[in-house]
Amino acid sequence: MDIQWYPGHMTKARRMMEENLKLIDLIIELIDARIPESSRNPDIDRLGNGKSRLLILNKADLAEKDATERWKVYYENKGYVVITADSKHGVGIKQVRGAVKEACKARIERNRRRGILNRPMRAMIAGIPNVGKSTFINSLVGKASAKTGNKPGVTKGKQWISLGKELELLDTPGILWPKFEDKAAAMKLALIGSIKDEILQEEELALNLIDFLTENKPGMLKEKYLVVEEKADHEILFQIAESRKCLKSGGEYDTAKAAMFLLDDFRNGKLGTVTMEYPIVSED
Ligand code: G4P
Repeated sequence: MDIQWYPGHMTKARRMMEENLKLIDLIIELIDARIPESSRNPDIDRLGNGKSRLLILNKADLAEKDATERWKVYYENKGYVVITADSKHGVGIKQVRGAVKEACKARIERNRRRGILNRPMRAMIAGIPNVGKSTFINSLVGKASAKTGNKPGVTKGKQWISLGKELELLDTPGILWPKFEDKAAAMKLALIGSIKDEILQEEELALNLIDFLTENKPGMLKEKYLVVEEKADHEILFQIAESRKCLKSGGEYDTAKAAMFLLDDFRNGKLGTVTMEYPIVSED
């Protein structure tokens, strides 16, 4: 989903979130396993105060396995119930129901004490654009669901998807705005394709990616494109144009096209799994 984040759109997204939050017990927050912190919305903790929380490290198939495990432990230590998932291929989805129960334990117990039994937990999926919200919902809902339609007492027009006796899902996910102010985070968001490429030209973005990969993942570009990684970033991009035979009509090498190839390969996991940030664990 492409959204141009003008201030007006951010205000609208925030208002929608606030309105929908009144209806739910649980926020299922999706973040990108390749950049968990950079893909988290800065305001979600304040907005979601008082709600049960479940965190999904999505696109785990594109991230380094060890790093994703470390992030899982990191967020668990902060008190979240966490699942790692690859929604595109349905991996991790089976664990969601159990995790919902775990995340809503206190709430379910409170209801039980008040004599409210078997009331399904109402959940909303939330996350920044492109993190996989629709894919996750489709994977979770599968064929077994039924839309329950408008319910009395619930804001008109809201649709709930019933997932058995225990869980109801708001069918429209909450769209959260990414971290724009933090330059390093914005760069990573642009690299994974979560904020649009106009933030930086594709070629500039590709040069940043080359810089990151030669530094942090030596050998990765060499293996894929047979480039000499010791060269300057712009020369490596030129070599990628050669290796992928990106030519302009006049026969010159087309580095803009090579930049697109590189970004696509990276975003689709064709270079291998890459995590771009790791949890910082204080030693005390
Ligand atoms: P959104 O609702 O949060 O905006 O995201 P959406 O589900 O539309 O997913 C955005 C892109 O991310 C889609 O790719 C989707 O297939 C992909 N995706 C979602 N979850 C995962 C995952 O766990 N792993 C991987 N590898 N990809 C995931 P697309 O290129 O836009 O569409 P398509 O080519 O897959 O059809």
